[in-house]
Amino acid sequence: MSNNYPHVFSPIRIGNFTVPNRICHVPTDISSANADGSVNDRVITYYEEVAKGGCGFIIIGASTPDKKTGRPTVGCIAVDEDPMIMGLSELAAAMHRHGAKTSLQIQHPGRQAAWPRKDLISPTDMVVDIPGSAGHEVVYTDSMAKGKQIRAMTIEEIYDLIEKFGEGAWRVQQAGFDSVELHGAHGYMIAQFMSPYVNKRNDRFGGSFINRMRFVLEIITRIKYKCGEDFPVGIRYSGEEWLEGSRTLDESIEIAKLFEEHGAAFLDISAGIFEVPGPTMDPMYYPEGWNTYTADEIKKHVKIPVITSHTLRNPDYCEKILAEGKTDMVGFSRQFIADPYWGNKAKAGKKEEIRRCISCLVGCWQESLMIKRHMRCAINPAVGDERFIHLEKAEQSYKMAIVGGGPGGMEAARIATLRGHEATIFEKSGELGGAILYCCTVPGKNKMRWYADWQREQVKKLGIEVKYRSEPKAEDLNGFDVVILAAGGKVSRPDIPGVDASIVCTFEDVLRCSVKNCEYYPKDKDKEPPVECGETVLVWGDHFGAADVVEKLGNAGKHVYIVTNNREFAAWMEPCHKDVMMKRFAGGNGEGLKSKTFKYPVTIIPQSTVLEINETGEVKIVNSKFEKSTIHTDTVVLAAVESNHTLYDSLLKQGVVVSEIGDQKKVRNLRGAVTDGARLGLTVDRDVQMNANNEVITRLPTDITL
Ligand SMILES: Cc1cc2nc3c(=O)[nH]c(=O)nc-3n(C[C@H](O)[C@H](O)[C@H](O)COP(=O)(O)O)c2cc1C
Repeated sequence: MSNNYPHVFSPIRIGNFTVPNRICHVPTDISSANADGSVNDRVITYYEEVAKGGCGFIIIGASTPDKKTGRPTVGCIAVDEDPMIMGLSELAAAMHRHGAKTSLQIQHPGRQAAWPRKDLISPTDMVVDIPGSAGHEVVYTDSMAKGKQIRAMTIEEIYDLIEKFGEGAWRVQQAGFDSVELHGAHGYMIAQFMSPYVNKRNDRFGGSFINRMRFVLEIITRIKYKCGEDFPVGIRYSGEEWLEGSRTLDESIEIAKLFEEHGAAFLDISAGIFEVPGPTMDPMYYPEGWNTYTADEIKKHVKIPVITSHTLRNPDYCEKILAEGKTDMVGFSRQFIADPYWGNKAKAGKKEEIRRCISCLVGCWQESLMIKRHMRCAINPAVGDERFIHLEKAEQSYKMAIVGGGPGGMEAARIATLRGHEATIFEKSGELGGAILYCCTVPGKNKMRWYADWQREQVKKLGIEVKYRSEPKAEDLNGFDVVILAAGGKVSRPDIPGVDASIVCTFEDVLRCSVKNCEYYPKDKDKEPPVECGETVLVWGDHFGAADVVEKLGNAGKHVYIVTNNREFAAWMEPCHKDVMMKRFAGGNGEGLKSKTFKYPVTIIPQSTVLEINETGEVKIVNSKFEKSTIHTDTVVLAAVESNHTLYDSLLKQGVVVSEIGDQKKVRNLRGAVTDGARLGLTVDRDVQMNANNEVITRLPTDITL
């Protein structure tokens, strides 16, 4: 096998063991353990797939040393009792079986605990709202006003916790792990002690640099005492915290030297503190490898291996930064959620097969960890659902018509085909991709296109028939056993005066994909270009279409107004994205981002609706207090979406076996569409009931997403 990536696939020594390649699974709390923190099959399956996929060094996600005082997520692993060693040892063995070396990250969340929700402990009694963390802000919005409590630990409690970290590490070692990692990043307990912004103690654990470092250094000493000098201890911390008054790269370099002196085996350089969720959980806006410069700088000052992470996706890029000596290992969290087989695919020279993570944070964060659920993924249905890893062949093959070639339709076709069904996709445009393609023209959202390309590649590879520019009627669907409607939602056109005026267009018109000579759309002569808006634009709506139009137009230097019914704009949006987006709307940027900023801040008009649009550009608005106002604009963009059941209802009446998925059924997000599609592809033959003559006797369920 040729090796396109010689640096990625070269071994490296960490402490007393050798890792077969430079690929590291950086810690990811998948919140899938049992309620008592013990390891179960769900956890083992997840990590075993990462090991099978060719990752050389797997660091298990945040595991608590004391579940009574702090769990980072409700489903985190616990290392606080000896009975946990049983499951942990099976976990280590499952990864070792496939040649991976192992570590487990011990983390106490302190102020950021998901559980308990009361009487939280921290170095300081500073009460903070932490947007986007898996802590309890989601449960109690406006938590400060509602009496959130965080109290400063006593000295006795600090020493007690140090002991618990030591005991936890001993259990990890007993379970057969090759090493342990301490979580000193993202504003969790160790980071709270290290951070000059958070740590306001004036005893031996606060104040000066060395006092702030004492907690973590004492933990290292305690681990070495319990586990022996040889047991490798790594540390994860943020190269920059990106918060006024907090740590910068200069101090992080001093910290690296100190850790090396204290016998640390490796450094895992992350970013951010949860007050600023952008750098910590880098949403879609952040370019590949934006945080690597911190590892690069730190690496110049130490000899122990340094790992970099944050939006690493492409093997070519990883090879480059390794070859240039900017890092010793490349670290992936979300990339392995989206595709655990990254390593093997890269090694086999099949990089187009890699389902690159689009950094949407919807499945793995917003709709799981943040709301106290098991981790999921918007684009990989196999996360948390083993049925997708070992797909069973269908007992009976169906001819399936799939109307709509967006993400839901393509996923239904992909899974169904892999199971032996015969799918035909009817797509009304000349190109597969559906609503994802709107993101092609939105700065900062282009990663969405990676997923569209991956799906299109799979459709091609599996030989799925696609009928382009086709909107079938009931009679065209006669020969099919099952019809799946996946044509997306439709733009809402409220019945108000002027809604058809020449200055009015839809978000689809503005965001239309303008990629020319797209390999999936060779006949681009009939591809309409996007509509050009005037200098001042009023966007009416509150969903992805609205947010993306504003992003595109703001970036192009337009004056933008948003009119929304809601009290705040984009309350539905994943919070790390929303945090960055709102900073951009205000004319600023996400911390660490170098992308172009808006010329004019965006004006959001909440709790309001449009009454009338005039050809001359006068738009009349009314708010919830019945106060009327007028805005002068050049263009109005309709950006609300609704589901669309017209075809479904008529097919049902004609006795067709039919199901709706994605936005056509209910307007949600990418995860909704892909999950619907995947589940339908998986269960279609089980849900369709046949009588003794092999005739269909029931219709498909309409609510598929769990
Ligand atoms: C679902 C999820 C869980 C995470 N859990 C942890 C964790 O347990 N410990 C940790 O240090 N970082 C954790 N992170 C942060 C990641 O390790 C990583 O730093 C971040 O996602 C950016 O890197 P990526 O682009 O490779 O995902 C988590 C991130 C996600 C999305």
